[in-house]
Amino acid sequence: MDNVRVLILAAGKSTRMKSKYAKVLHRAGGRTLIEHSIAAARGVSPNISVVVGHSAEQVKATVPEVSFVEQKEQLGTGHAVLAAREGFSGYSGDVLVMPGDVPLITTETLQAFLKFHRDGGFEASVLTADIENPSGYGRIVRRSNSEVDSIVEHRDASPEVLKIHEINSGIYVFNAPALFESLSRIRNDNAQREYYLTDVIGILVHQKHKVGAFKASSAEEILGINTRQELAAVDHVMRRKKCEALMAAGVTIIDPGSTYIDAAVQIGPDSIIYPSVQIYGATVIGEDVTIHSFSRISSSKIASRCTVLEGSIVVDSAIGEDVSLGPYAHVRMGATLADKVKVGNFVEIKKSALGAGTKSMHLAYLGDATIGQNVNIGAGVITCNYDGVNKHPTVIEDGAFVGTDSQLIAPVRIGKNAYVAAGSSITDDVPPESLAIARGRQAVKEGWVKDRKKK
Ligand code: UD1
Ligand code: CA
Repeated sequence: MDNVRVLILAAGKSTRMKSKYAKVLHRAGGRTLIEHSIAAARGVSPNISVVVGHSAEQVKATVPEVSFVEQKEQLGTGHAVLAAREGFSGYSGDVLVMPGDVPLITTETLQAFLKFHRDGGFEASVLTADIENPSGYGRIVRRSNSEVDSIVEHRDASPEVLKIHEINSGIYVFNAPALFESLSRIRNDNAQREYYLTDVIGILVHQKHKVGAFKASSAEEILGINTRQELAAVDHVMRRKKCEALMAAGVTIIDPGSTYIDAAVQIGPDSIIYPSVQIYGATVIGEDVTIHSFSRISSSKIASRCTVLEGSIVVDSAIGEDVSLGPYAHVRMGATLADKVKVGNFVEIKKSALGAGTKSMHLAYLGDATIGQNVNIGAGVITCNYDGVNKHPTVIEDGAFVGTDSQLIAPVRIGKNAYVAAGSSITDDVPPESLAIARGRQAVKEGWVKDRKKK
């Protein structure tokens, strides 16, 4: 929308969170609170400024694409807006002010709110909601049905005002010059000794400006986070919404209550997610994929028709079509598994590529390895990729067979269609089409037990 700027207040400490990190750096639905606010605000204006103070450098690093204003001391929400005054000099349009701790707010609601403000010709508007338990929120005191009188903070409210269930979301639209003019008049003679942005509303009303209050249709959207309990409640709402959206798009989620899926995750239709699965980051999952319980998939790609069995972990990796993984497989650090790969029980794959049709079914460690197609990795095979100082690569060419309980001491290469006999410690390259045996010869001492007993 034209001629509107956004100002997000995110300087506050998290006193009630009992945290050493700024509140807006805490996460719900897989993203920091400040990222949620910015994502919603972006649909209203590309011009976003964030007021930072506590953990300013970390906040800046989290959302580097916006501009910042420093509030050196945190003396209240009104004081926070004042810190941004210089940046608004000469600007006569609207400013949408919002806190950084109301992460469920949507672009649609913000747009409807801005439209309400403009259509009504208001000097200032506040977004409100009726909620069951208004404890802790500022209350909207109305003069009549349509007019606002003031906003009273919970800690400053009389018993009468505490009965009001309409609360301040902390989201406002102001005409910028009117905002900064009234801000110079607010004082901190209240219970918290803070400069309240909410007082601007009363001042504007007092000056006979038109102030509007727009009630959000969904009270859930304006839930603020001040405590860890509220953080968990909002996280719960986000997860529920994500599961609902995925189910609506054709994904079976057997127990949405125990399923944790981040907002950015994509899953194709007819995929089935079993209870207690976690899928995080920008993971993309294809169609007809089944993910069994207690698996965690993070920032990875899993193509169609894969099966991930119980307790598997996939992080920062890419998996082709028709792959079977687990139970208890661990795939990480940029591992790539081509189509039809089978990786079974207790196999760890780190920074390695497995070609199509390759199998490693039991108890193996494959690290820094490039493995071709249709390779068979026996149970207990280990790539010894680390010499205590450096990591070294292992190459296993197409069609090779690495027998059970072999160690491949890197750097080493197993040639095409070569065989490594079970129990070998391979230190030298194995040429294609050959057999390598590298183990001590078996000695049998007949009658040894009897002989020992005689002694
Ligand atoms: C505020 C509102 C309250 C409203 C509630 C909605 C005021 C005085 N009260 O209360 O009416 O119902 O939000 O969630 O505004 N911040 C700064 N600098 C400061 C203080 C705060 O940047 O000096 C930031 C915080 O980081 C936070 C936001 O402003 O993102 C809101 O501050 P917070 O202390 O959480 O206000 P509430 O007590 O929740
Ligand atoms: Ca708050």
